[in-house]
Amino acid sequence: MPQEARSSLPLSGRVALVTGSAQGLGQGIAVRLAAVGATVIGVDRSSQDETESRVGSVGKDLSAHTIDITDERRVAELVAEVTDAHGRLDILVNNAGVDDAISFDELELDRWQHVLRVNLEAPFLLIKGFLPLMRRNGFGRIINIASGSVVNTMTGFVAYRASKMGVIGMTRALSSELGSDGITVNAVSPGVITTPMSTASLTPQFLEATIAKQGVKRSGVPDDIAGAVAFFADPLSAFITGQTLMVNGGAAFV
Ligand SMILES: NC(=O)c1ccc[n+]([C@@H]2O[C@H](COP(=O)([O-])OP(=O)(O)OC[C@H]3O[C@@H](n4cnc5c(N)ncnc54)[C@H](O)[C@@H]3O)[C@@H](O)[C@H]2O)c1
Repeated sequence: MPQEARSSLPLSGRVALVTGSAQGLGQGIAVRLAAVGATVIGVDRSSQDETESRVGSVGKDLSAHTIDITDERRVAELVAEVTDAHGRLDILVNNAGVDDAISFDELELDRWQHVLRVNLEAPFLLIKGFLPLMRRNGFGRIINIASGSVVNTMTGFVAYRASKMGVIGMTRALSSELGSDGITVNAVSPGVITTPMSTASLTPQFLEATIAKQGVKRSGVPDDIAGAVAFFADPLSAFITGQTLMVNGGAAFV
């Protein structure tokens, strides 16, 4: 990688796709990637009006797609649409996720399967779909959002934590296979970040105890995670692959 000074933003000329971009972490990631120069494609099953307006405020247009990422046919159509519109995909952020804030006794097979499909199978479909485009350009940054819950002692979230360990395993395995194509694969493992998901699923007592354990004594915000994603997405991060970065204010170490 050349060492000369950059004359433009780090992700200028790059195309990035972020799933789960309607709210929470995905929205923060979409705005950050746009702010550092990327053309951003947002994918969510919900409306992305707020994300469009926030991306607009950093001087970019969001290309918003409303799809359920577990639908294999819709993912294939998305790949075709992105290929037609941009002819490239440089950065894929697998962020969309769902959880199961219930005990194992309450967890039924259909809920287990849904969590695994959104959190693990959909990233598989998206990576599989966009890989030819990345390979064609000899460049790719795949960033999977895992979760710090896999190293926590907490009750519930059995399907969620199983899926997120799967995400970390898939990240490591793919990094070995794709490095020779110029494609890196990394994961970001957020601690507790204030979003609609964490507000709905975590108790105030758990949030308070987590902040007490952290070195940085505040709640995490989506922008904290967006910074880590932008770091992995940078062309200069070419020698970092297969890694999982914990972004948790110091709540846990690995
Ligand atoms: N918030 C936290 O504290 C925290 C901590 C660790 C990991 N995470 C992970 O970060 C990611 C984002 O979490 P968040 O807190 O922003 O969640 P959120 O629920 O606030 O947002 C998730 C987004 O994903 C979308 N989505 C869900 N299923 C989808 C599907 N099938 N197709 C298309 N879109 C779908 C939702 O519509 C929503 O906009 C998730 O993978 C989550 O597991 C979050």
